[in-house]
Amino acid sequence: MEYFSRRHDRRKPRGRLRAAELIPDDDAAAPVPEIAWMLERGYLDAIDGELKSGKEATVYLGRTRAGLAAVKVYRDLTVRSFKNDARYRAGRYVGDARIEKAITKRTATGRRAQGRLWAGHEYAMLWRLHRAGVPVPEPLIGPDPSDIGDAGEVVLMRYVGDESGPAPRLADVPLAPDDAHRAFAEAVDALATMWRAGIVHGDYSTYNLLWWRNAVVVIDLPQAVETDHREARALLARDAASLCATFRTHGIEAAPERVLRSVFGDA
Ligand SMILES: Nc1ncnc2c1ncn2[C@@H]1O[C@H](COP(=O)(O)OP(=O)(O)OP(=O)(O)O)[C@@H](O)[C@H]1O
Ligand SMILES: [Mg+2]
Repeated sequence: MEYFSRRHDRRKPRGRLRAAELIPDDDAAAPVPEIAWMLERGYLDAIDGELKSGKEATVYLGRTRAGLAAVKVYRDLTVRSFKNDARYRAGRYVGDARIEKAITKRTATGRRAQGRLWAGHEYAMLWRLHRAGVPVPEPLIGPDPSDIGDAGEVVLMRYVGDESGPAPRLADVPLAPDDAHRAFAEAVDALATMWRAGIVHGDYSTYNLLWWRNAVVVIDLPQAVETDHREARALLARDAASLCATFRTHGIEAAPERVLRSVFGDA
C-alpha cells in the first residue's frame, strides 16, 4: 500500500481525472486488485485516476518510467456484451473445456477467463499493428506471450493525451471541414494498413478513434479478427459502413463501397 500513500503527495489531476474516487483516503481500503498488482510488480509507478468506464473495461491513467500510461482493466463485465457475439468468438481457441463452459455460463471464473482472453488478444493486435505502422497506442508489456500472460486482465499501453486530459474521441470533437477530411482519409488509410497486416478491427467508428494533435489514433481491439476468419469480409464491410455513418456528423458523405475499394487497393 506504500505506493498508494506515496501518490497523495502528487499534484491533483484536473479535468476528467477523478483520482479521489479511485484512490481511497484510507490506505487500508482495498484498491482495484489488478492495479495493486501492477504497482507491486513495478509495471506502474503510480496511478492517477479513472479515465473512462466502458461496457467491458475501465481505463485508468497511470505513470510508468516510460511516461504516462492508459491502464485498461477488463472487469465487472456486463452480462450482455456486443463483443461476446458468437461471430467474433467463432473459431477462437480457448483450449480448455471447463473454461469454455464457464465463459458460456458467465460465472465469475468465466468472466475472469474472458477478460484474460480479451486482454491477451488486444495485446497481440496492438503489437502487430504498432509494428505495421498503424497509429495505435504503443503496448507497454510484451511482445513475449509469457509477459502478456502475467499481465492478466490488464492492458498497459501508452496514454494518448497530456496532463490536462485524454485525447477526445472523434465522435466527441467538433472538426473544421479540412480536419474532417484529413481525419477521414487517415481513418481509411488505417483500415487499409490493418487489412494488409492481416487484421480487421471489428468495431470501427469514430467512437474508437481518438483525435490527438491533428492525427487519428485507433483504439479498442479485443474483438479484432484475422483476415482469414470466416466473417472477416463481413466485419470489414460493417466497419466501413460504421466509419462512414459516424463521419456524417463531421459533414463527410462517403460511400462504404468506396472505402472498401481503397482498402482492397482498387480504388
Ligand atoms: N491509450 C489511451 N489513451 C487515452 N485514452 C484512452 C486510451 N485507451 C482508451 N482510452 C479512453 O478510454 C475509453 C474506453 O476505451 P476502449 O474503447 O478501449 O474500451 P471499451 O471498453 O470498449 O469502452 P467503450 O465501451 O466505451 O467503447 C476510450 O473511448 C478512450 O476515451
Ligand atoms: Mg471503445
